Amino acid sequence: MPSDVSKPSEPKPEDAKPAEAAPVATTTETAPATAEATPAEATSVEATAVEATAVEATPAQPVAEAPAPVAAPVAAAVPEPEPAPIPPRQGSPLNDAALDQLFRSARTQYGWTGAAVSDDDLRSIFDLMKWGPTSANSSPARFLFIRTQSAKDRLRPALSSGNLQKTMLAPVTVIVAYDPKFYDYLPRLFPHTDAKPWFTSNPELAQETAFRNGTLQGAYFLMAARALGFGVGPMSGFDNAKVDAEFLSDRGWKSNFLVNIGHGDQNEEKPRGPRFWFDETCLIL
Ligand SMILES: Cc1cc2nc3c(=O)[nH]c(=O)nc-3n(C[C@H](O)[C@H](O)[C@H](O)COP(=O)(O)O)c2cc1C
Repeated sequence: MPSDVSKPSEPKPEDAKPAEAAPVATTTETAPATAEATPAEATSVEATAVEATAVEATPAQPVAEAPAPVAAPVAAAVPEPEPAPIPPRQGSPLNDAALDQLFRSARTQYGWTGAAVSDDDLRSIFDLMKWGPTSANSSPARFLFIRTQSAKDRLRPALSSGNLQKTMLAPVTVIVAYDPKFYDYLPRLFPHTDAKPWFTSNPELAQETAFRNGTLQGAYFLMAARALGFGVGPMSGFDNAKVDAEFLSDRGWKSNFLVNIGHGDQNEEKPRGPRFWFDETCLIL
């Protein structure tokens, strides 16, 4: 029986945000009314981009002449050579063992065996995650891997009490963040059209795009880690403002959620919660 289930006096860990965290989470997670109107706009600009790509007879758009991104950490990185294109093929269902590992048997992890997670493991997870789709290939997520004791100690004051122990014991804790100025990299990431002004001219669309796609990439990260055999424990119970101030302010990035990664201790798993069944939450129109 998991310790936090058997001890009702312990603080409830689930999404237990410190009071100061609430305004930040509310700001980022609740789409303002004005932003509600933007998805159609985003869709239409993406559609325009696709059309532009298809119509352009001169694909030699001067990618190299695009203004260099301003922010240093990602822009300064030397781009890796892309792997050779994979020939098109029909998809086929993953086998049951793979589906179990990703979804059906996979459980959120609250405790850890002693097995380590290497830097190469983290790179492998990233190198799967990065292929997940994002709007305009914007790839706004940023990842900080907290593994040293000194880095964990810097994280500690931001954690809710229910998330403290498991995070301190996890081999690695990831701060899944996003770059509100992701658009500076669009000349590199989406070179076939000039997409940056879509966002520089519309701050609400920029924020919505950064948060939506950064969250998607965080989810891809969870599934990539599971695909490679790791256990994950995502957490929103922490003070975003404190994490931003301690780790992210110099780059202007914003925290979204945290993920503990390791090899999960099954004895610490909580009872499986039920899920909706299809007809409760789905419509086929
Ligand atoms: C974005 C997100 C935030 C979460 N925040 C917390 C948290 O702060 N503390 C915690 O103990 N569990 C947290 N969880 C874990 C969920 O309660 C758990 O994933 C869910 O109950 C499903 O559990 P299962 O994967 O074992 O079925 C979070 C999960 C997600 C995806």
